[in-house]
Amino acid sequence: MQNLLETSNKWLITGCAGFIGSNLLETLLKANQQVVGLDNFATGYQRNLDEVQQLVSPQQWANFTFIKGDIRSSADCQQACSGVDYVLHQAALGSVPRSIADPITSNDTNISGFLNMLVA
Ligand SMILES: NC(=O)c1ccc[n+]([C@@H]2O[C@H](COP(=O)([O-])OP(=O)(O)OC[C@H]3O[C@@H](n4cnc5c(N)ncnc54)[C@H](O)[C@@H]3O)[C@@H](O)[C@H]2O)c1
Repeated sequence: MQNLLETSNKWLITGCAGFIGSNLLETLLKANQQVVGLDNFATGYQRNLDEVQQLVSPQQWANFTFIKGDIRSSADCQQACSGVDYVLHQAALGSVPRSIADPITSNDTNISGFLNMLVA
């Protein structure tokens, strides 16, 4: 990671408004990396992004591009992956009870959405 951060790369974080994604976003922006974030706010929050904005400089924040989009859309995945060097795929729906209550949505996100990201 240290070597990766010595040069400026363009990273995609899917699920950037979630717990892990927003922490990755903070770390990468503080390392002066360029970051594209993709999230549909299914379980993530705008306040997580706002918090990162408070923790980095305005110049570092300007290196962040947010796409409100959905990994269930292959077009959104392709748009988000365009020109990026590395992908950190964190977008998913957790919770076994959720997957039992609504297996279609969990499968579409965690299986088909992941496949969309691999193809993109
Ligand atoms: N938090 C943990 O301790 C932990 C431990 C092990 C594994 N994980 C895994 O890491 C990943 C991220 O976990 P987290 O804790 O940050 O979860 P989280 O719910 O906080 O973040 C997931 C993000 O993905 C987004 N998302 C969900 N469906 C989407 C879709 N269709 N399109 C675009 N964005 C979508 C949500 O809005 C959210 O911002 C998950 O796969 C989770 O299972 C988490």
